[in-house]
Amino acid sequence: MIPSVQQIIELERKLAVMEDNLKKEKLFAIGELSARLAHDIRNPLSVIKTSINILVSKGDVDAKTMEMYERMERAVERITYQIDDVLNFVKPRVSSLKNTSLDEILASVLARIEIPKTVVMTTPTKNIEFVGDIISLEIVFVNLITNALQAINNSGEITISADVQNEKIIIKIHDNGPGMPSDVVPKIFDPLFTTKQTGTGLGLTSCKTIIEQHGGHIEVESAVGKGTTFVVTLPYRRII
Ligand SMILES: Nc1ncnc2c1ncn2[C@@H]1O[C@H](COP(=O)(O)OP(=O)(O)OP(=O)(O)O)[C@@H](O)[C@H]1O
Ligand SMILES: [Mg+2]
Repeated sequence: MIPSVQQIIELERKLAVMEDNLKKEKLFAIGELSARLAHDIRNPLSVIKTSINILVSKGDVDAKTMEMYERMERAVERITYQIDDVLNFVKPRVSSLKNTSLDEILASVLARIEIPKTVVMTTPTKNIEFVGDIISLEIVFVNLITNALQAINNSGEITISADVQNEKIIIKIHDNGPGMPSDVVPKIFDPLFTTKQTGTGLGLTSCKTIIEQHGGHIEVESAVGKGTTFVVTLPYRRII
């Protein structure tokens, strides 16, 4: 018997649901495994980090050896960054809503990221005090600013602006990098999507989860040659 159009549509829908469930199960399994791995790597990694720091601080070695120490330091930093990326993705918890402010969050984020002198960084002129989870919001801005720095290749402009409109906080992070092609834009919040050689593709997925756990949303405006703007919208819960 030839199936009707209706039956085909229904079959396709079921297939799509099955595929979606399979993808979720796979992601869950990957998440569990990566979390355990990432967690277990952290301790030996910090032993290596501390040991290199001690060796560097002694300083009684020739230039070539020092260069090797510094290479090791950078390699450890890269592994640490990727582990944090995985852990932030697997366990993004908005655990404690407290009085905070945009100034407080950005100051702490900018203390963690090295901004090269070749970057013109503009931060909001007006502070906004609100209720949010500072730890997880820091993860959001570390990721967005790191992406912007990578997009401009450490040389260009990054502008962060913020405003309150209709009981919502709107924060924009703009960079004058190359922008994204239209076929890339719909994929950037998907887990493991990356166009970078050393990227994990988890940064924006974590940002989206955290912002949504706050009751907000994140959007992007980007086009090739026009740079990129991420727009973060958060509910404006006033401090008490
Ligand atoms: N500011 C930006 N300008 C241009 N492309 C961007 C920008 N931010 C994100 N992207 C694109 O979105 C992709 C996904 O970003 P995401 O932060 O999730 O992962 P990633 O930066 O590749 O790796 P990581 O997990 O280390 O953050 C990037 O690979 C890049 O193609
Ligand atoms: Mg990233």
